[in-house]
Amino acid sequence: MREAQFPIMPRVKIRPQELSDAERLFEILTHTDFEFIEIPIKTLEDEKQFLKLNGVKRINNFEHNYSILYDEKLVGICGIGIDQHRPWMGEIGYLVDNAYQRQGIATEAVKQLEKIGFGALKLQRIVILMDTRNFESEQVARKCGYEKEGVAKKIHRIRKEYYDCFVYAKTR
Ligand SMILES: CC(C)(COP(=O)(O)OP(=O)(O)OC[C@H]1O[C@@H](n2cnc3c(N)ncnc32)[C@H](O)[C@@H]1OP(=O)(O)O)[C@@H](O)C(=O)NCCC(=O)NCCS
Repeated sequence: MREAQFPIMPRVKIRPQELSDAERLFEILTHTDFEFIEIPIKTLEDEKQFLKLNGVKRINNFEHNYSILYDEKLVGICGIGIDQHRPWMGEIGYLVDNAYQRQGIATEAVKQLEKIGFGALKLQRIVILMDTRNFESEQVARKCGYEKEGVAKKIHRIRKEYYDCFVYAKTR
């Protein structure tokens, strides 16, 4: 039988964020449940400023931010921040629009991001930190094969309070 003329598009894809993503990303951020994270974006202008800085952050190997597409629609954000003292180590973060959660989208996005991290970015170690109450995020790390290493106390801050995170990690 002949091969299909076009390959089937994977439903989840990640691509570098673009300035034209600003409105949709801001909409996603305003829908999101911020119980366990804090994102310092209050206005559409803040989001545009954030996106404008992405190029310089990428060139300086500081942070590599991506948009998550589901059937070509923008539904989330993910990224890798590079430890500036140990540049072989990166931290993955992710967020999916409430309306698209529980469909495996974050899990697939993390798998794709990890390939970039261990591939083009030449990382030796990738960590995912999540608030110890953030069960959904923990499930994503588990489903991607990250190993739970322990608890980092008071490592993140939400609205001026400090909270503990689980440390999940994978090495090359
Ligand atoms: C964490 C987050 C990105 C997960 O996105 P997602 O696309 O729903 O994740 P997935 O569908 O790939 O996997 C989530 C898993 O968590 C579990 N889960 C999710 N919601 C759940 C719920 N309400 N009750 C029980 N289990 C739940 C499930 O095991 C699910 O996997 P399954 O559906 O295959 O069983 C999303 O909840 C989110 O954006 N949260 C707010 C931002 C955030 O906390 N980001 C992480 C910072 S560390």
